[in-house]
Order: sequence, then structure tokens, then C-alpha cells
Amino acid sequence: MKKVRKAVFPVAGMGTRFLPATKASPKEMLPIVDKPLIQFAVEEAVAAGITDMVFVTGRSKRSIEDHFDKAYELESELQARGKDELLDFVRNMIPKNINCIYIRQAEALGLGHAVLCAKPVIGDEPFAVILADDLLDGKPAVMKQMTDTYDYYRCSVLGVQDVPRADTRSYGIVDARPVAERVEQINAIVEKPKPEDAPSTLAVVGRYILTPRIFHHLENVKPGAGGEIQLTDGIASLLSEEQVLAYRYDGTRYDCGSKLGYLQATVVFGQRHPEIGPEFEAYLKTLGG
Ligand code: G1P
Repeated sequence: MKKVRKAVFPVAGMGTRFLPATKASPKEMLPIVDKPLIQFAVEEAVAAGITDMVFVTGRSKRSIEDHFDKAYELESELQARGKDELLDFVRNMIPKNINCIYIRQAEALGLGHAVLCAKPVIGDEPFAVILADDLLDGKPAVMKQMTDTYDYYRCSVLGVQDVPRADTRSYGIVDARPVAERVEQINAIVEKPKPEDAPSTLAVVGRYILTPRIFHHLENVKPGAGGEIQLTDGIASLLSEEQVLAYRYDGTRYDCGSKLGYLQATVVFGQRHPEIGPEFEAYLKTLGG
């Protein structure tokens, strides 16, 4: 019985919604207070027992590699200044048993194509896909909830939530029927349907556990919505031979690909921050409203 040990982080997107901040640096490096989005995503994978982090990168993504790498100059500078606490913090950002692997997606051909680029590293194992701009705050971590669901049902699992009907054109939307608490069996999935065409309002968020059979389907799908190779279309094709489940995760999602979601996350995590939380909360009170 194979466990989910590997996670794919597609990080080759252009981040156009955050220009100019994302002109030279990736959107996944945008910080929520002091921690980049990509680090939240990796920590969620670690909490689910995942050990191999596979980043599918593109142009201007060097900072992600640097972020998870050893920072010699910074470490010796902190050591020289006697900043032991910070030094410890920088050194132990991720546990020692974690492997970071980088694959370059030469052309931005879509999310499905990005996932397909990870095939040589994933091999014949189930794996997770995490989109770092969806920041999911859950206890236990949402990916842990999903790997538990995978361990029980042994099939692909997609993280989902209900969205307003007007928003269906921003998401993969599933047609599903409940089989257990939080778990639904998917009959169909479509990428970014118009509200009037959407089969439901149950939307896929940026969390997936997929069986390796998805690669076969991604190799064969044609460009879909936006002219891109869509992961959703690969999953639709996978449905013809395997069961795929939707999992209504327990937690709060911040859509950090949008400015509003990003600011909401910043406020909530700011209020909770051990160093500045109380002071920030007091400041928010002075704003009234
Ligand atoms: C991607 C997927 C979509 C999914 C969404 C979740 O879209 O293609 O199916 O619902 O992530 O955030 P994107 O937001 O990259 O356009």
C-alpha cells in the first residue's frame, strides 16, 4: 500500500494579478507577514508526512530555490553578530529529512502540463499537488486531512468547497454525490464553466491527491480553457477508468492569488503573530469601522 510521499508545487505561473510585485519575483514568494506563501504550502505537505517536495519552476523562480537552500552568507553574518535565535530559525526552516527537487517547465502551457513535467520524479506513486496561492488554514493541516482520506479510499482525492454561483468561472467545478461525511464521489468535472453552465457550485481548491495514472491522461488531453493543458481535463479523462473523490476540507481558505484574499490572510495571520499580534490587533481597533 503506497503512501503519499511526494508533493508537486507548480510555481511557473506569471502572477499577473500581482504586478508589479511579481515582475521579477514569483507570486509564491509573497509573504503573509513574514513567511512566503510557498513556505506555508511546504509546511502543509510536511504536516501530511510528505518528504519529497517537487517544484515545477519557470522564469524568475530562482528565489524559490534559494529560499529552501542553505544560505551560507546569511548564516555566517548572523553567527558573527551573535543572533543565535535567528540563525537557528533560518537553519531549521524545514526538517532535515525533506528533499527539494526542482524541475523546469520551459513553456507555460498550463497547470496540467506543469504536473506532467513532474512525471519522471513521481514515477508510479500517488502524489499531492499543492497550489501555493490557495492558503488553507486547517487543523489538522488540510493536506493531512486529504492523505488520511486517500489512505482510507485509495483513490484520487480533490479538495473542494462551495462557492457563489457567480464565481464558477474561476474554478474547476465538480458534479458529485455524497458518500460519507465530507466525501463525495465525482461524476464529472469541468474547468471554469460559466455560472449558467456549471453542474454545481462545488469548486476545486488548489489541493489534489492523484494516482500516477493521471500522467497517461495528461499526455493525451488537448488544450482546453484558455488554450492551456488543464489538470481538470486530465482528471475528467481519468474518471473514465478510476474513481475520483471530492473532499470538503475542514478549514479556511484565503485566495492569495487575489489582492483581497491576500490582504485578508495578512490581517488574520498578523493578529495571530506571536511577535506583533496584540499590537497589530490594537492598531486595527483604532481604525474602527
Ligand atoms: C486552478 C485550476 C482550477 C482550480 C483552481 C483553484 O485555476 O485550474 O481548476 O479550481 O486552480 O485555485 P487557476 O486559479 O490557476 O486559474
